Amino acid sequence: MRIVLLGAPGSGKGTQGQRLMQHLRIPQISTGDLLREAVARETELGRRAQADMHAGRLVADEIVIEMIHQRLAQPDTTAGFILDGFPRTRPQAAALDVLLEKIRQPLDKVVNLDVPDAEIISRLLARGRVDDTEATIRKRLEVYAQQTRPLLDYYRAEGKLAIVPGVGLVNEIFDRIIAAL
Ligand code: AP5
Ligand code: MG
Repeated sequence: MRIVLLGAPGSGKGTQGQRLMQHLRIPQISTGDLLREAVARETELGRRAQADMHAGRLVADEIVIEMIHQRLAQPDTTAGFILDGFPRTRPQAAALDVLLEKIRQPLDKVVNLDVPDAEIISRLLARGRVDDTEATIRKRLEVYAQQTRPLLDYYRAEGKLAIVPGVGLVNEIFDRIIAAL
């Protein structure tokens, strides 16, 4: 299975991605986690990404596209993968299509976890990652609405979109995702 988790910040992509990884035995690939790793290791890429992440802006398309390109070339992805937080822009979605077409592995499903903004803000303030300040959370929500939400129409048109209500117990939401797949 090749799955994209497309929800807003704090909608539960990471939480549900982990569950799906165990259940389906395919890797969860989070561009946010990969970027945070690069920042922690103080690589050139990490240095370039850090300020954008801190401010809640998207990192440049070419950086994340190259990261995904390299990650999907790893042998553990041949049976499938769960993309968490990628794609987030039209150019990223287009690049992913080209990449998957080349290896003849089209996406099976795109899951959008639907969670109201107020719930997202309270979840993220409670978590407290470095980018979980109120100002940065608001910026991330704004960026999601402007740049990522339009991808819902893109995947709906391809007949791949599933909208899953993302409020409730983690287990309940997981069952909804499995049903949608
Ligand atoms: P990224 O790391 O992807 O962050 P995000 O999209 O803002 O989402 P989060 O990781 O905060 O939330 P999540 O949806 O994974 O939810 P989680 O399961 O953690 O990106 C960070 C930054 O990196 C971006 O701002 C950007 O700068 C950059 N970046 C990343 N990808 C990029 C890309 N493709 N292009 C350009 N830039 C990119 O849950 C959140 C909290 O809620 C947790 O505390 C969790 O325990 C809790 N929770 C989960 N489920 C529930 C539930 N059902 N009920 C109650 N609480 C719950
Ligand atoms: Mg996450």
